[in-house]
Amino acid sequence: MEPARKVYLQPTPVRIWHWLNAFGIVTLIVTGAQIRFPEYIQLFSGYKSAILLHNTAGLVVAVSFSLWFFYYGVVARNMLKIYVPSKDDLRFGIGRQAKFYLLTYFLGWPNPHHPTPENKFNPMQKSAYLAIMFVLMPLIALTGILLTNVSPLRELVILIGGLKILVAAHFLLACCLCAFLFTHVYLATLGRTPLAYIKPMWTGWEEEEPDRHSHPAA
Ligand code: HEM
Repeated sequence: MEPARKVYLQPTPVRIWHWLNAFGIVTLIVTGAQIRFPEYIQLFSGYKSAILLHNTAGLVVAVSFSLWFFYYGVVARNMLKIYVPSKDDLRFGIGRQAKFYLLTYFLGWPNPHHPTPENKFNPMQKSAYLAIMFVLMPLIALTGILLTNVSPLRELVILIGGLKILVAAHFLLACCLCAFLFTHVYLATLGRTPLAYIKPMWTGWEEEEPDRHSHPAA
């Protein structure tokens, strides 16, 4: 049997950003849960240390986000091409990919999307990552920055609707991010083996999936 062909999908800066970001977001979620529900969750020694860790993780995520932005925007210059779904993606691609995740994956059919360095995300990934990286992450960072600087940015806080609205917005955005994380990790295990898509995020190289041509309609 021929060895599987490999394709270089994830450049080093993207991998560094991704794992720093993942580590930071998980820390933010856990510490955030303790800050929000201190009576039920006490993972870190005290309330103050949870806040300190939360703010530090926020900083790590902000720095890694800048690395991601700089890499795609200035070095690779392919941010929009990689992350913005095409008309075709919106009209047919999302439906085709959803059918795969909801049905044909369980029948053993091949994934209809074959990643290449220029088009590495399937239409559902593009749409989800676009929303996460261009809307959710900036909004959650903005509300977080405001919450850590209420006094100096008082006028902006009032403009948004006050502290209560700001806290609620930050919490709801964090819930969305948490929901994304669970879905993202689940979908990341749907390769030929559970680690088939996760390893490339570590090594950069993904094995091409054999196109079995068994179901041309997929
Ligand atoms: C903690 C566990 C996580 C795991 C196991 C994981 C796994 C993966 C894997 C396997 C990929 C490459 C395949 C793909 O494109 O779907 C990927 C890409 C991606 N992940 Fe994650 N992820 C995690 C956390 C996160 C978090 C917290 C975020 C954002 C808030 C995130 C955002 C992204 C984005 C935007 C990409 C595309 C990166 C690019 O190539 O430009 N991931 N992730």
